[in-house]
Amino acid sequence: MSITTSDAPIAKPELREGFTLIDHAKGQKYDLPVLAGTEGPTVIDVQHLYGDTGYFTYDPGYMSTASCESQITFIDGEKGILRHRGYSIEELSEHSDYLEVCYLLLYGELPTAEEKAAFEHDITYHTMLHEQLHYFFRGFRRDAHPMAIMVGVVGALSAFYHESTDIHDPEQRRTATHQLIAKMPTIAAMTYKYSIGQPFVYPRNDLSYAENFLHMTFSVPSEDYRVNPVLARAMDRIFILHADHEQNASTSTVRTAGSSGANPFACVAAGIASLWGPAHGGANEAVLRMLDEIGHKDRVGEFVKRAKDKDDPFRLMGFGHRVYKNYDPRAAVLRESCHEVLAELHVDNPQLDLAIELERIALEDDYFVERKLFPNVDFYSGIILSAMGFPTSLFTVLFALARTVGWVAQWKEMIKEPAQKISRPRQIYTGYRQRPFRAIEER
Ligand code: SDX
Repeated sequence: MSITTSDAPIAKPELREGFTLIDHAKGQKYDLPVLAGTEGPTVIDVQHLYGDTGYFTYDPGYMSTASCESQITFIDGEKGILRHRGYSIEELSEHSDYLEVCYLLLYGELPTAEEKAAFEHDITYHTMLHEQLHYFFRGFRRDAHPMAIMVGVVGALSAFYHESTDIHDPEQRRTATHQLIAKMPTIAAMTYKYSIGQPFVYPRNDLSYAENFLHMTFSVPSEDYRVNPVLARAMDRIFILHADHEQNASTSTVRTAGSSGANPFACVAAGIASLWGPAHGGANEAVLRMLDEIGHKDRVGEFVKRAKDKDDPFRLMGFGHRVYKNYDPRAAVLRESCHEVLAELHVDNPQLDLAIELERIALEDDYFVERKLFPNVDFYSGIILSAMGFPTSLFTVLFALARTVGWVAQWKEMIKEPAQKISRPRQIYTGYRQRPFRAIEER
């Protein structure tokens, strides 16, 4: 199958008038160039700083650091903007579908009808898993957290798909990226079936990506299962909203793992591990547990108070973001989807009412306003997923499923970067100076 890859050439950033760094201790000056991209913050190019000055930059958590050049996703945190290859997340979630967004992220352009059909066919025919992997699941306890299974099974894929692990072969890179996008729903559904003791359900080639996932998750061999088109559309939209998000923690993890030449299956397994954290993708699960703990609107004030108390580790899960200092545009779309899904299911979900009340109170509170803490993508997603019948423990698995395309698109962009190097940050050392060894009798 031939996909016309129309990867836009990596345009060189524009060199601008930069900064002069004065080292007063040594009485020396260093010129630091500034590089401007298409839009967003310009960067001070410090690649040669250590070689020229003997100094490192210091930026724990990378609050002010651009780790790479990318053309895939643009975020403007102040304005609450998210675009993939120039298209806004609002338009993509309204007019596109997940596999079309996957093509856009991977190949740089929205596909023609022919390109889309070819891509969908290729993904569809990679959805099955090697049968031997079924035994892999059997090694886990039934109550294992599904993310633990995902990390294990995805990491093991490279043991089954050797033909797509040569990262320097463009055809093998293409196959591996398609295999990962195609197999994640199958693996995710299998983690759920395994946890509830139901038989695995094989993918079907006559269903769309989202329909197939719902079918593999919720159907049972003993009766016919009809996918609710409203839920399938909501599922597909949730996948779109989680597809990619610039250089977040898990994507940076995938890039770092890939920079050593590790195969894409191992890199995505590393991304899954990073996403699991409650400060990142694990927040959607934590939001539902938080709402359960709050229990009733009358207790919202108590928890908002705790979230503001520096002596209390409690944070409002689903609030705040490293980049967005405005409403996360994905949360706005998900909030609308919440109403649609709950109406379709005729579900009067008290957690949604509680979440809306929590959002109202927080957004009127100076602590959150001053710190520009708004709902993020994880705040509403769990409510929809819960209403659709997913257990809380599966929420981050669904995030990982959807984010796989972002991880592999960013990994592919990095591997193709001519100047790509292994990621190897340095440190500021504050430990012991050299000291003589002491025999155990002397300690
Ligand atoms: C995702 O990066 C991405 O793009 C991630 C993501 C993606 O698509 O990949 O968007 C997905 O991970 C969304 C975020 C999900 N996480 C949560 O909802 C967990 C709760 N949020 C926080 O833990 C926090 O907001 C972070 C981790 C998201 C961001 O942390 P930062 O940027 O390091 O900010 P910070 O911890 O330094 O907080 C700044 C201030 C602090 O107060 P002060 O020290 O200035 O007094 O805001 C406070 C924090 O205490 N604060 C919160 C808060 N989040 C930040 N206070 C209460 N509740 C919160 N949720």
